[in-house]
Amino acid sequence: MMSEKILYSLNAIFDTPDEISHAAEKIAEKGYKKFDVHTPYPVHGMDDAMRLAPSKLGYVALIFGLSGTLGALLSLWWVSAIDYPIVIGGKPLFSFPAYIPVMFEVTVLSASIATVLAMLFVFFKFPNNSHPLHGTGYMKKVSSDKYGISIQADDPKFNEEEIRKLFESLHASEIDLIFWDNEELNHKNKILEPKFLLFLLAAAVITSGTAYFSLNKLMFMVPFNWMMEQQKQNAQQKSLIFDDGFGMRQPVAGTVARGYMPYEFKGQPDLAGEKLVNPVPISKESLKIGQQKYDTFCSPCHGYHAEGDSRLRGQYPNPPTLHSDKVRKWSDGRIFAVLTDGQNIMPSYSTQLTVDEKWAVINYVRALQRALNAKESDLQ
Ligand code: HEC
Repeated sequence: MMSEKILYSLNAIFDTPDEISHAAEKIAEKGYKKFDVHTPYPVHGMDDAMRLAPSKLGYVALIFGLSGTLGALLSLWWVSAIDYPIVIGGKPLFSFPAYIPVMFEVTVLSASIATVLAMLFVFFKFPNNSHPLHGTGYMKKVSSDKYGISIQADDPKFNEEEIRKLFESLHASEIDLIFWDNEELNHKNKILEPKFLLFLLAAAVITSGTAYFSLNKLMFMVPFNWMMEQQKQNAQQKSLIFDDGFGMRQPVAGTVARGYMPYEFKGQPDLAGEKLVNPVPISKESLKIGQQKYDTFCSPCHGYHAEGDSRLRGQYPNPPTLHSDKVRKWSDGRIFAVLTDGQNIMPSYSTQLTVDEKWAVINYVRALQRALNAKESDLQ
């Protein structure tokens, strides 16, 4: 049987990391190229001892990374300047700074994917997953507590006698021949067997078929379509029920939306000031709502403390202070008239605030006024 087998390599086992480093150095020195060192953990300085050239993986990452950068740049340029030019925020169609994040991401993505694929398919020769050293006693030892070196039989300088002598002079504790496994030699990749390929094909057909069926057919069958087909009218949809064909209807005449009671004193602020009474009592809650609404809707122009210190930097005329004697003497109803009708260039806030919210804002404005012009009694 031995004679039929083909030699893969001559291997030696060493007991210490110093010995293996020394042996690797000597073997590289003698000019052997096809040899490898196996240790249970990375041994420092081994790359230098073996005179290994730097890995070529870096070039793969560089080339694919740069093509990713370029590909992203070109596709962004084509999409946004050539194929679908839309001006966004007044920016030029070819806007390089906006492309940088995408270019960066695509660079990283293509470099990392290419590195993994190159490692698997080029450097590890996947789908081949066998190696003559697998399962040998040598491999068991060097993966627990020994250090091994293996010179391949196809090295141009390979000579069994010479290498044996060399190993002995380096104090190898064991020297062994490793043969190709016959089965392995004639072995075809299981992955390429018709049975397996057929299985892959069947799996692909079944999964895509199931996905297609469930998303395009099943979802439209009873009862799975219940969520989709509802007895309702969507906005802008045509209706078969009404003569005019509109799905969206006007409210019935006289309908009042909750919180939006009609205002009787349009254009008559003084009358409103006389007749309207603030129905919202001053309380912690109403002041809280008032503050929240005031800060959102009034403070941009009137300032947080109603002193007319607008934050709009002159882009809108500054309003007067609300701490004037005039406004302090106004009734709540008179202020309500301003919020409802607007006043000169100040617009109405009826669409932003409900009736009760307006009264709450007025309560808050009163609190601000009192804070800035406290009475003697407030201070006690
Ligand atoms: C877009 C800016 C702006 C916003 C927002 C705004 N106001 Fe005014 N407000 C003005 C201007 C400007 C005037 C002065 C109008 C005029 O010329 O009579 C004014 C006037 C007033 C007056 C009358 C003052 C006076 O002395 O005649 C009151 C009261 C008032 N605002 C309250 C409010 C309240 C409360 C809010 C929040 C709901 C609010 N404003 C939101 C700009 C604004």
